[in-house]
Formats: sequence, C-alpha cells, structure tokens
Amino acid sequence: MTYKEVLIKAALKSGRFIKGSVGKIVRISHKGRDNIVTDVDKKAEAMIIKDIVRAFPEHSILSEECAPKIGASPYKWIIDPIDGTTNFAHAFPFFCVSIGLEAGGKMLLGAVYDPMRKELFFAERGKGAYLNDKKISVSKTKKLGDGFLATGFSYGMTRKDRNISHFRKLLTRSLAIRRAGSAALDLSYVACGRFDGFWEMNLHPWDSAAGMLIVDEAGGRVTRFNKSPYSPYDKDILATNSRIHNQISSLLTSK
Ligand code: IPD
Ligand code: CA
Ligand code: CA
Repeated sequence: MTYKEVLIKAALKSGRFIKGSVGKIVRISHKGRDNIVTDVDKKAEAMIIKDIVRAFPEHSILSEECAPKIGASPYKWIIDPIDGTTNFAHAFPFFCVSIGLEAGGKMLLGAVYDPMRKELFFAERGKGAYLNDKKISVSKTKKLGDGFLATGFSYGMTRKDRNISHFRKLLTRSLAIRRAGSAALDLSYVACGRFDGFWEMNLHPWDSAAGMLIVDEAGGRVTRFNKSPYSPYDKDILATNSRIHNQISSLLTSK
C-alpha cells in the first residue's frame, strides 16, 4: 500500500469507530483541569498506529496520547486520534481524526476526517487539496469586515486570557467569529472556503500538521502571527484565504 492509501484507510477506519462510540458511556480522565481524554481517543490512536507500523515499521510516530516512537527513517506520522475530544465526550458533533506525514521538516500528506458528516479533507504536497475527492480552494473574501473567522482557546486559564484580547479586537472588526473546538476542522474549513481565517495560540503539532498542508494546498496562507513561516512545532498559527492575512496579522501583533 502507498503512504496515501495507508493514511486514508487509517483515518476512515478510526473515524467510523469514533462515530460508533458517540453518546455511549466513555471513560473520561483529566490531563489537566480543562483537558480531558477518553478511552475512545486511546483506542482510536492504537488502531491508527497499528496500521501505520504494520505498513512502515521504520517510520517515526508522534501522536497525542502516547510516547513518541523514533524510527530510523526520515518519515514521521503526526497523529491526533480525536481533535475535539471535549466535543466528542459531550456528543457535540464537531470533531475529527487528523493524520499528517512529514519528511525532512515538510508536510507531505495530510488527512482530516469528520466522521459525523463523512467529510474527508485531504492534501498531498504539490497536488492540491480535496474534500471527498472534489478539489477545494479558499474563499475570495477581501475585507476583514466581511470575514467569517474561527479561533480556539487552548487549555489552561492563563493562556486563554491572552487570546481574549485578540478575540475582542477581531470580534469588532470581522463579520463573526466561531469557537467550535477542533483546530484541525477549523483549518480544513478555511481550506474549503467556509471560514475566511483562523488563528490560535499554543497548539501542538498534532492539532495543525495535516490542516496546515490542506490550507496551503487549497491556496491559503499559513504563517505565525507575525507572518514568519509556520511549522507545526510553532505555538501560534494564522491561516487565512491569504487576502485578509495582513489585516489579521497586524491586529494580532499590535499592542
Ligand atoms: C484541541 C482542539 C481545540 C483547540 C485546543 C486543542 P484536542 O485539541 O483542537 O479546538 O482549541 O487548543 O488542544 O485536545 O481536542 O485534541
Ligand atoms: Ca487536538
Ligand atoms: Ca486529541
């Protein structure tokens, strides 16, 4: 099987399992006051990793709920078995599986699968971005005042405080802002033009690795707040349709 086949199969299979567990009793444990994980996150993660390791035993794996596996190969799979765990645990239907493949510091493949809507967002470097096999592209909105935006508040109260001033600034200058609780889906929605822009602080590589490539391949722009190049190991991300990028960047970086 090719990298792409393994990636898509793992995303769809784990997504079906996650969907089948919605509303059933799941065991929830706390990683922090407002940061939870369920047994479904861990089972979905084990399913994904098993399929990848079987196909590519020498590859590295970085996945949210387990220790990293360092392999001899330059290929690294970056996995979030459920992005939007708090939503999932409350049967709020906005969560996904996010899997990216990186090599030599570049994202090569990314898949974000929303099992509730059966929407598979997929991108391969240099080959465009797709939603269920249909090519997608970012919106054409030019003015921030018409911008339909998304953000998230990372775990931990102190950090949330910092994003509240950004939220306030953008709320009064955009059309509307949503905080739906899945960074990977927020990014995918920028890629297909549903959102015009997304920003967040303190994400982890598994939240953005697949989504950043999908936005990039859909013709969008992904940088840090100050417009310097973004990698999934950076803490702040600004992803837009590119047309409203400068306007949002100035507000996020101004005092
Ligand atoms: C979270 C979601 C959320 C974002 C948080 C992430 P998780 O991931 O992406 O939208 O605001 O920063 O940690 O914990 O549900 O995988
Ligand atoms: Ca996540
Ligand atoms: Ca997660």
